[in-house]
Amino acid sequence: MYRDKQILLGVSGGIAAYKAVELLRLLVKAGADVQVVMTRHAREFVGPLTFQTLSGNPVHSELFNLIQEQEIGHISLADRADLCIVAPATANIIGKVAHGLADDLLTTTLMATKAPVLFVPAMNVNMWENPLYLENQARLEQHGYHFMTPAVGELACGWEGQGKLPDPAAIFDFAQNLVGSRDLAGRTVLITAGPTREEVDPVRYLTNHSSGKMGYAIARAARNRGARVILVSGPVDLTPPEKVDVVQITTAWEMHAAVMARCDDADVIVKAAAVADFRPLERETGKMKKGDRSQLTLELARNPDILADLGAKRGRALLVGFAAETDDLLVNARKKLDDKRVDLIVANDVSEAGAGFGSDTIIVMFLDRHGNIEELPCLPKEEVADRLLDRIQLMLEEGGGEKLRR
Ligand code: PMT
Repeated sequence: MYRDKQILLGVSGGIAAYKAVELLRLLVKAGADVQVVMTRHAREFVGPLTFQTLSGNPVHSELFNLIQEQEIGHISLADRADLCIVAPATANIIGKVAHGLADDLLTTTLMATKAPVLFVPAMNVNMWENPLYLENQARLEQHGYHFMTPAVGELACGWEGQGKLPDPAAIFDFAQNLVGSRDLAGRTVLITAGPTREEVDPVRYLTNHSSGKMGYAIARAARNRGARVILVSGPVDLTPPEKVDVVQITTAWEMHAAVMARCDDADVIVKAAAVADFRPLERETGKMKKGDRSQLTLELARNPDILADLGAKRGRALLVGFAAETDDLLVNARKKLDDKRVDLIVANDVSEAGAGFGSDTIIVMFLDRHGNIEELPCLPKEEVADRLLDRIQLMLEEGGGEKLRR
């Protein structure tokens, strides 16, 4: 997403300015060309040489620096940016831009740019909650400026609460949303991720090794491409992506209810979750005692097949299923494509190391209803998510689910 993009990183004067160094490092590593603009106060917290060394570009601060103006004026900084990120953004900088004030290089550049602007506020919790600040933010949001929500925690001023600069990795992730292709703008994508848990008794449950990484990567990528994303997630250890509607569920029946209640809103449904096919027939109300038994037989009841129910419903959404197989990958995946009446199956051989449950990479094939097969090498789940969305986008252009299934 960031490769060859021109990013303007604005750093205003707050203690969190040191975290902007890590954000810069991530952006440069991802292939972006970053121009750093520091306010005078920001230079009190971190020396410009650090930003200059990491970005490989001179750091800009002075509005009327004649030498720099000749090489790269403030209007040129504004014009060539694909995205401006202000991190940390103080109440002062936000207040100035909200009122059209441009009295230094950063505010002037922000006023002059046509690129998307992301403010990442960091301040004392009382400032953050001050209605004057909130009005300024709301005013900027109305005009199309973007904001990340500060994190909660111990603040440099000694207070506890909301106001911390989010993790640089979270800012990096969120900002991708604003530089990439917006080919899914106007679409709603419903994604399921993670395992389900089926309780045996109050302390035990049946589940599987799904970490949710694949489904969350698809959710993030779809959001980055402009889609409205609904993520129905089983219990996982991942932080939900920002600006995604997350519905937390535990059991297969809860996932079924959550998906069925929202499927009519969706243009695309991607079922990356590993749903338990069975649940204990009876859930014990108290902890089961082993007694003097040497064996125990657990009776299981069949869970609903959510994907098959969606296929049977034949709604308008494009339906994408996954098939996790340990043998006869193609045969079994094609059977799922037909039996569950889906438009596309992502087949993954989960017996291969680094290729499925829990790993950061995956090996998949896309199978469609016309017999086309696209085989991908072992790739990070983020990249597979984008390749999958490329494929989905083409299918949407061809008319989407209802038409393809006719
Ligand atoms: O979460 P990760 O650790 O990143 O791992 C990713 C993954 C391996 C979980 C993912 O790539 C994957 O393969 N997901 C589907 C796992 C699975 O349950 O496959 P299946 O072949 O049993 O099911 C086929 C399809 O039917 C799936 O889309 C599944 O969501 C759906 N299904 C299955 C059973 C059921 N009761 N209801 C369903 O909707």
